[in-house]
Amino acid sequence: MEKSVNRRKLLKSGLMSIGGMALAPHLVQGAFASQPFYLDTHNRLYYSPLSREYFLDDPKETKLFAKLNANENPYGPPKSAITAAQEAVAGGNRYAWREMYSLVSKIAKKENVDTKQIMMGPGSSDLLEKVALVSFMEGGNIVTADPTYMSMIRVAEKVGGTWKPIPTTKEWAHDLDAMEAAIDADTKLVYICNPNNPVGAMTPAKDLEAFCKRVSKKVPIFIDEAYMELAHGPDAKSMAHLVSEGYNVVVCRTFSKIMGMAGLRVGYMFGLQEFIDDIQKITRGGMGISLTSIMAADAAFGDDSFQMMTKTKNMECKEYVSAELKKMGYDPIPSYTSFMIFPIDMDGKEFLKKMNAQNVGVRAFNIMDQNWCRVSMGTMDEMKMFISAMKGIS
Ligand SMILES: Cc1ncc(COP(=O)(O)O)c(C=O)c1O
Repeated sequence: MEKSVNRRKLLKSGLMSIGGMALAPHLVQGAFASQPFYLDTHNRLYYSPLSREYFLDDPKETKLFAKLNANENPYGPPKSAITAAQEAVAGGNRYAWREMYSLVSKIAKKENVDTKQIMMGPGSSDLLEKVALVSFMEGGNIVTADPTYMSMIRVAEKVGGTWKPIPTTKEWAHDLDAMEAAIDADTKLVYICNPNNPVGAMTPAKDLEAFCKRVSKKVPIFIDEAYMELAHGPDAKSMAHLVSEGYNVVVCRTFSKIMGMAGLRVGYMFGLQEFIDDIQKITRGGMGISLTSIMAADAAFGDDSFQMMTKTKNMECKEYVSAELKKMGYDPIPSYTSFMIFPIDMDGKEFLKKMNAQNVGVRAFNIMDQNWCRVSMGTMDEMKMFISAMKGIS
């Protein structure tokens, strides 16, 4: 039976800082007061209507719980980042403009753009939201794949934009021809999530590159590459070079996935300076990131061995999960990300209940009238728990 969580317990659980955003008291008592948080039957999961996700009560007390519902990196943060953040705390009385600029300079070098073409944010979600706010406050439409990651679309709709969803191809790639055909005089932005969440598929690089070169002459193209560093194979190609070649393309990245810093909240985007300047106007120059997170990001950015380790282990887990699921008769979509999705023959809520009862947290989606399970790649031990839970439900 679900029951409401009192405020004290909520504070203890850390849920007051969902998404790195400390929830101001007025939000808790005001706008969302009528939307309680829920506990599952085992009193271990909170459902947050704010982020529409489940959160663990206290991971320390529930060691045997595999939390595989938010595409987090189970190995992070890297030790280098933890040390850097710890050392930075003592300097927290000062604004971190210098440290931020130093990180931005490193990013500029890697992405082959000018520092003025980069905007930082507390997580890439913040950047998706700000781009949506600025781009759609006077209306217009956003063209995207369907299904895709919904953050930018939700904000675009809330501020008065219209969503033009274009079903993916049968291989789950962006249907680029149909997307191009959907662009009209009111289109303000094309959003491409590549690899795409929640399906995990990649859009062929050659087609996407040609699309970007052609279409960016009419309308800016925003490419969310949150999982790109985890992708493999010939199509795993970033479109970042198009920015330095002068196309009206914006590429967005996060430190939450391969760098294992989801809770530390750092992301960045880069594009033509005019585009970035327009978005920066509504902010205080990206200073929504704490000194500790900046220093952690700086360390993680240069920690190639941590990133390599994550990528290798993520691949191993995907191979294991895919093979085991197939043995059970499931049909997962080949994944270029840190999660995998496959159709299930059960109501999503029912499925989650059964998985939670076995201490495994995953996500359920309904895509085109079909129920799906999306499972994030945790450690190999967690993936074994997941597979054994799957065996337990059928
Ligand atoms: C495709 C995609 N973009 C952006 C984000 C937001 O990540 P963050 O705000 O942690 O940088 C996510 C998070 O899961 C994602 O899947």
